[in-house]
Amino acid sequence: MKEKLEQIKVSALRSLENIDSLPALEELRLGLMGKKGELTQILKGMGALKPEERPAAGQMVNQARQAIEDMLSTARKRITRKEQDARLAAEALDVTMPGARRAVGHRHPMSIVLGELADMFLGMGYEIAEGPDVETDYYNFEALNIPANHPAKDEQDTFYAEGGLVLRTQTSSVQIRTMERKKPPIKIIAPGTVYRSDQVDATHSPVFHQLEGLVVDHNITMGDLKGALELFASELFGGDIKTRFRPHHFPFTEPSAEMDVSCFSCGGKGCRVCKESGWIELLGCGMVHPRVLEMGGIDPVEYSGFAFGIGLDRIAMQRFGISDMRLLFENDVRFLRQF
Ligand code: DAH
Repeated sequence: MKEKLEQIKVSALRSLENIDSLPALEELRLGLMGKKGELTQILKGMGALKPEERPAAGQMVNQARQAIEDMLSTARKRITRKEQDARLAAEALDVTMPGARRAVGHRHPMSIVLGELADMFLGMGYEIAEGPDVETDYYNFEALNIPANHPAKDEQDTFYAEGGLVLRTQTSSVQIRTMERKKPPIKIIAPGTVYRSDQVDATHSPVFHQLEGLVVDHNITMGDLKGALELFASELFGGDIKTRFRPHHFPFTEPSAEMDVSCFSCGGKGCRVCKESGWIELLGCGMVHPRVLEMGGIDPVEYSGFAFGIGLDRIAMQRFGISDMRLLFENDVRFLRQF
């Protein structure tokens, strides 16, 4: 039995030399000390010994078992260590490598201004509505009570696309789309890009931005219009700003007006910015024309509404002291980096 034990130990030691994974080690362990393991078999065979032989034999087997367990445990440590080293090597990071610096983007001044104005109106309970840039004649003109022979429809002002489509000349087109989609109460703003075939100069661009507003409900009056727009002006320019409404004409509102604000440059005394008038035109507005409500599927006897349209580009120029409108569209990064 002593020889047998010695032989098991030697052969285990030899096998261990070639083992370098934990599953293989476990297999070897089971082969020795598992239910049918070699060592287990010997232990079981002890019952056949004479009683006086047993203590010495038991001691021998235990020693052998202890020796083998020590061998296994040493091997387990060696393998675990090796696997860990391999993993660390595979995951190694060279923290001294120079990083790839990412260019940080900037918000376009137009987006900044649009976001600010939208927040003001959202705070007054307005929702945001949208319509397509490529629009039908119906939504851009006809449903807004703009007749076929209106000068705005002249090819010199409007970009015509194929199939009778136009690039929308005003965000007012979203008014009709909204009324078709939604019954009163309606309280929306529609910011967006508009197009007119203007000559490009410091204050004109064929692509520019408007923010449309539309409110329709029972008993909406000119007083509601003035209240909303005066609040907006004071939020935009500060509480000291004065406003005035001048009669005007738009086909889709009746009555119509333009709202001026006291010059934010000179405070109303008169300067170059306001052309010595003390006032700066800010937006067009009016009570929605009954025919426009009808076109939107809303009964003008039951409901009334007001609408307004604000040019955003000039507000952005004023806000950031930009003297040439072209800068807003050229996307020169040296310009954009400043915001
Ligand atoms: N659509 C007009 C324009 O482009 C601006 C405008 C004026 C919009 C009066 C309105 C309004 O909603 O009521 O010049």
